[in-house]
Amino acid sequence: MFVLTSSQMREIDRKALHVIGIPEVVLMENAGFCVFEEIKKDFGDLKDKNIAVFCGKGNNGGDGFVVARYLAQVCPNVKVFLFDENVTLTSKVFLDVLKKLEVDINILSEELLSSLKTQRFDIIVDAIFGIGLSKDIEGLYKKTIEYINSSGAYVYSVDIPSGICSDSAQVKGCAVKASKTVTFVYPKIGHILYPGSYYCGKVIVKDIGIPEKIIKDIKVKILTVEDLDVSKFYRYPDSHKGDYGKVGIVAGSKYYPGAAVLCSNAALQSGCGLCYLITPKEALYFQNFRRPEIIVLPLEGKEGVISFDGFVKFDEFFAKFDVLGFGCGLTKNEEVEKILIHILENFQIPIVIDADGLNSLSSSQKAKKLLKSYKSQKVLTPHYMEAARILNVDVKDIAKNPIDAATKIASEFKAICVLKGSRTIITDGDEVFINVLGNPGMAKGGSGDVLTGIILSMIAQGCSAFEAAKLAVYLHSLSADILLEKKTMQTILPSEIIDGLDNAIRRLIK
Ligand code: APR
Repeated sequence: MFVLTSSQMREIDRKALHVIGIPEVVLMENAGFCVFEEIKKDFGDLKDKNIAVFCGKGNNGGDGFVVARYLAQVCPNVKVFLFDENVTLTSKVFLDVLKKLEVDINILSEELLSSLKTQRFDIIVDAIFGIGLSKDIEGLYKKTIEYINSSGAYVYSVDIPSGICSDSAQVKGCAVKASKTVTFVYPKIGHILYPGSYYCGKVIVKDIGIPEKIIKDIKVKILTVEDLDVSKFYRYPDSHKGDYGKVGIVAGSKYYPGAAVLCSNAALQSGCGLCYLITPKEALYFQNFRRPEIIVLPLEGKEGVISFDGFVKFDEFFAKFDVLGFGCGLTKNEEVEKILIHILENFQIPIVIDADGLNSLSSSQKAKKLLKSYKSQKVLTPHYMEAARILNVDVKDIAKNPIDAATKIASEFKAICVLKGSRTIITDGDEVFINVLGNPGMAKGGSGDVLTGIILSMIAQGCSAFEAAKLAVYLHSLSADILLEKKTMQTILPSEIIDGLDNAIRRLIK
């Protein structure tokens, strides 16, 4: 499913009017009716309900007038609250209709708002701001939103909760906490990313009669099963381990031996034929937790971490690997940086760089330059902090516009970027997929190592880097969601996400 920005939505509205000839009033009527239908579906008989409709002066308010008109036909207790009678031309059409129908219309003031605190509304419709919100909310608007949030009513937001920026999902001053949001055509970024997603409640997407053919060049999508090539999970009856690829992983240290174990176990458990783990000898005390199938290549480390001299002794192995994973649990030090540069200068195999591999990349201009011209497929898997280091910006800038950050990283390094977060973003610098599966039980050290292992495994099994990243992100979250059916978020562990891959793959290919 596509995800739109406000300017794309405006362009769609513009084309509907100027190219196809659908008048704005028709779209407003359809939008308002869709919201009414949803309320009717949820509550059935509305005649005993107390309902308030709060309308702004833009077209979102106009949608609200239409909802109010339909509600007033089936319920005697509908009150409309307006901030300003000076509404847009299209909205005015419907405000005038409400007036003629003698619907109870009130102009909001501080006093009126205070008096509402003694009333009880069962349902509130929030049509204050839609995609036209342009600055932080303050004054009477803010007080009204605070009132709505404390009212205890079931709240429907029209298009998007007032106060949520539809392009960044950020809260602009304050925002309505909706029970349900009814949006039109396709969801907007503000519905999908956090914190906006949290404010929307359940999001319902309604068709308001805009022809699909005018919706073009949308590059952002919600990641769904339809976007995945599940054929890669098919195993031929006469196949052998070589058909499913060899993963090489450079990971682990005395301090983080578990990162190497998680990454390699995840690779193995998602189907690759062979998995080699290059790790410092000092990390091996932990290896009794690993699966015996992992081929461990212990290298001579330096004070418990990987060393350049130890690493280069394994150069000949690299010809064997179909894909290389670099970074999980290596720690950040100059040796890691030297090894990354050595790999980028001397090998040409698909590479997945995570964690300390990314930290080394951020601190070395040489590594950055080499990565840009590295000819094979590349996947970078930063979380927000790592992305901020790569782009040399504040982490708040990444949070404000993660799609932009991921796209920049992908374009700069001609790589696939998997920007990890509560909504992981996967992009090749052009197309963008947002993952909406997963749960906060995954917010634990080790989850990222598992994801890297799955990506590696999928590349080894013949996926392109982009396909592998999409499949891996989806499977990783699906596994955690399936665990949540029987476990709490507190007790879900990354190692269990690996075990749960079995159920996740089963569900995906059924
Ligand atoms: N405080 C006060 N007024 C604001 C603020 C703010 N923080 N931000 C924007 N406004 C004003 C704008 O100046 C404008 O008058 O609110 C109005 C924008 O309101 P919207 O209804 O969000 O924008 P508009 O473009 O008119 O309509 C878009 O219409 O198609 C429907 O619901 C759909 O979201 C969509 C909406």
